[in-house]
Amino acid sequence: MSELLRVAGLTVRHGATVALDDFSLSVRRDELFVLLGASGSGKTTLLRAIAGFALPAAGKIELNGQDIAALPPHRRPVNTVFQSYALFPHMTVAANIAFGLRGMDRASASARVREMLALVRLEALADRRPHELSGGQQQRVALARGLAPRPALLLLDEPLSALDRALRTETRDELVRLRRQLGTSFILVTHDQQEALTMADRIGVMRDGRMVQVGTPAEVYEGPNSRFVAEFLGSANILPGMLLAGGRVDLPGLGTIAATEGVAGPVLLALRPERLRLGEAGGINRLSGVLTASMYAGEAMTHTVRLPQGAEIRITQSLRDGLLAARSEPGEVVTVSWSPDACILLPP
Ligand SMILES: Nc1ncnc2c1ncn2[C@@H]1O[C@H](COP(=O)(O)OP(=O)(O)OP(=O)(O)O)[C@@H](O)[C@H]1O
Ligand SMILES: [Mg+2]
Repeated sequence: MSELLRVAGLTVRHGATVALDDFSLSVRRDELFVLLGASGSGKTTLLRAIAGFALPAAGKIELNGQDIAALPPHRRPVNTVFQSYALFPHMTVAANIAFGLRGMDRASASARVREMLALVRLEALADRRPHELSGGQQQRVALARGLAPRPALLLLDEPLSALDRALRTETRDELVRLRRQLGTSFILVTHDQQEALTMADRIGVMRDGRMVQVGTPAEVYEGPNSRFVAEFLGSANILPGMLLAGGRVDLPGLGTIAATEGVAGPVLLALRPERLRLGEAGGINRLSGVLTASMYAGEAMTHTVRLPQGAEIRITQSLRDGLLAARSEPGEVVTVSWSPDACILLPP
């Protein structure tokens, strides 16, 4: 897949705050790229810089190999859908969608509006005003408006955060469908990791104005490159240890377990709660500890086990596997097991 957007060495300051620090990113044609990061990590600033609303102190922004840094926002083949949708309250749905088509002749513009209305399945509501629509419908109008002028790149800043859970799922599927159908690239910002994992072709995790990891959802989730990413995307039990020859890890106060080969030295062992099992069926690695809590959560149980050196680890166990676990009571000594391939080794 070829490159659509290339951002290199981008620095954006807001007064004394460095919102983006020597930031680089490459987005491919026809991809849904999801940006994840804590509040204040620079996600909105990045979208604003790409769209032309924030002025970089340094760096390059290229679209299709062309430097767009000097172009004003309306000349860039980029559109933004904001969190608040920013629909014009006095205009009908159709007029809102037509807004970005000024300059197109009347007949082509109204044909394009009809096409967009069909795309987001709002043909019947073309003459309503935004206050006569549900949140999800407003969201679809905002999307249609963003897509109408056929931008090469659509930027979406937390587009689903104002929707309730059911509508979120529906709109999420809709977004994925639209993106496939149109072949437009999307960069989408979200705080919701489930959303990131299910929607993204690739995920970029930001921290303090920098990109700390980029990869497919599975690459980032299964192979985080730092403790920060392991804990930001999903949850992880972290135990300090020493990687020895032969892929074994010595965990102080707990003994030695089998992991994967790597450079010998201090490491952090990260274990995803769903890769651990109560009992001995989880794999060759075993530790015993005291069960301190079990919590029912619908599709799974979450257990907490205190290890002999004092650390607590969490285990998420599907109820299908839960028979043994269900028989253990808090206070009992239990075994936790897992296989070597569940071990994620991180720099200390
Ligand atoms: N107009 C501004 N003036 C001064 N500082 C700003 C301005 N806009 C953003 N900042 C600062 O720049 C940093 C990055 O902000 P940004 O809005 O890009 O974060 P974000 O990742 O979008 O956060 P959130 O998830 O809360 O939306 C923050 O420290 C923020 O306080
Ligand atoms: Mg933001």
